[in-house]
Amino acid sequence: MNKAKKRLAILVSGSGTNLQAIIGAINNKELTNTEIAIVISNKKDAYALKRAQLNQIKNIYLNPKDFLNNEGYETELIKIIKDENVDLIILAGYTRILSAKFIDIFSQRIINIHPALLPKFGGKGMYGLKVHEEVIRSKEKESGCTTHFVTSDVDAGPIIAQRKVPVLEKDTPDTLQQRILIEEHKLIVETIKKVLFEFAFSYNK
Ligand code: GRF
Repeated sequence: MNKAKKRLAILVSGSGTNLQAIIGAINNKELTNTEIAIVISNKKDAYALKRAQLNQIKNIYLNPKDFLNNEGYETELIKIIKDENVDLIILAGYTRILSAKFIDIFSQRIINIHPALLPKFGGKGMYGLKVHEEVIRSKEKESGCTTHFVTSDVDAGPIIAQRKVPVLEKDTPDTLQQRILIEEHKLIVETIKKVLFEFAFSYNK
């Protein structure tokens, strides 16, 4: 284990384009002294797992249904992450809501990316296309993406950074989602840099 580098655990459920952006930034040295320790998915068919495999990154599919309850599932998740000596956990399109216990154990070391300008258009049930549908329905002039620390209030933890995009008259939820996703890929990398190397947090475990 190379502890000269900061180690990331990336939790995913879907296509993993944000994961891909992080992999790309590490490969092209935009993100230095950083490595992805592990990618963990709660969905077997998440393309994010394939991306990890293609890049020789350790990856695990952890099926919540293999456990008696969420506590059992998270106990295993916590063990896996602790064993990897991780500095920062990134929720990159991870669809499960983490318990207060989990969040407390990794306090200030979990970040999430959300495809809207929080505190607007966040919270339980606000994910995927639904977010962009609401933004368009509300006739917002701009939207964007937000990274924030994860607390037990869904999408309401301290904001780290945002990138904005205009909402165009001709936008559909799909087109808006696509334009925001491009910004997410920049934001996630900027945020990781900021949190690991600019913030004065002590990550000693
Ligand atoms: C992104 O829009 C992210 O903000 C949200 O889920 C989506 C994940 O996309 N939380 P991907 O799996 O990284 O492509």
